[in-house]
Amino acid sequence: MAFELPPLPFAKDALEPHISARTFEFHHGKHHQSYVTNLNNLVKDSPMASQSLEDIIGATAKDASKAGVFNNAAQVWNHTFFWNSMKPKGGGQPSGDVASAITGAFGSFDKFKDEFKQAAATQFGSGWAWLVIEGGKLKVTKTANAINPMSQGQTALLTCDVWEHAYYLDYQNRRPDFVAAFLDNLVNWDFVAANLSKAR
Ligand SMILES: [Fe+2]
Repeated sequence: MAFELPPLPFAKDALEPHISARTFEFHHGKHHQSYVTNLNNLVKDSPMASQSLEDIIGATAKDASKAGVFNNAAQVWNHTFFWNSMKPKGGGQPSGDVASAITGAFGSFDKFKDEFKQAAATQFGSGWAWLVIEGGKLKVTKTANAINPMSQGQTALLTCDVWEHAYYLDYQNRRPDFVAAFLDNLVNWDFVAANLSKAR
């Protein structure tokens, strides 16, 4: 059973004006699809063809000879996780357990936002900004290229894609404006809450 491109969890124009339908046509329809196609071609006729994405990522993360498989498998997973990290009319402050976990870890929601923006802005070149839980503690991290928290012994709660293909059509070189729009208008805190409760 080959890997398939999962549908977006919202209509491709549902996050406008913050992320355009045209961005999703390329980012989901072309980039995410390419990772799926490349992964299927790479694992075809190998035992990995019948493994889960998570198992493939775990088995290839530290194996330089499998970098191509890792990069494509992780990018398939990362993009699905990123779509689910957003929703129409999202963003702003979380509530309940997520709010108290963020305040406990960062001091305040504003301090969390500053740390997340800083991680996203300072990831040199392509990569991802994350909110993760590690050893019961929330942290903000950044990773290069396809690397994700799963391959670092952490559990992902939220991510923002900071590859140029994520924002260039809508924001050109203004990555910080894209990240601010993500935090203020798009974050799906219900998804974060579900991830946090599974991780605890
Ligand atoms: Fe991307």
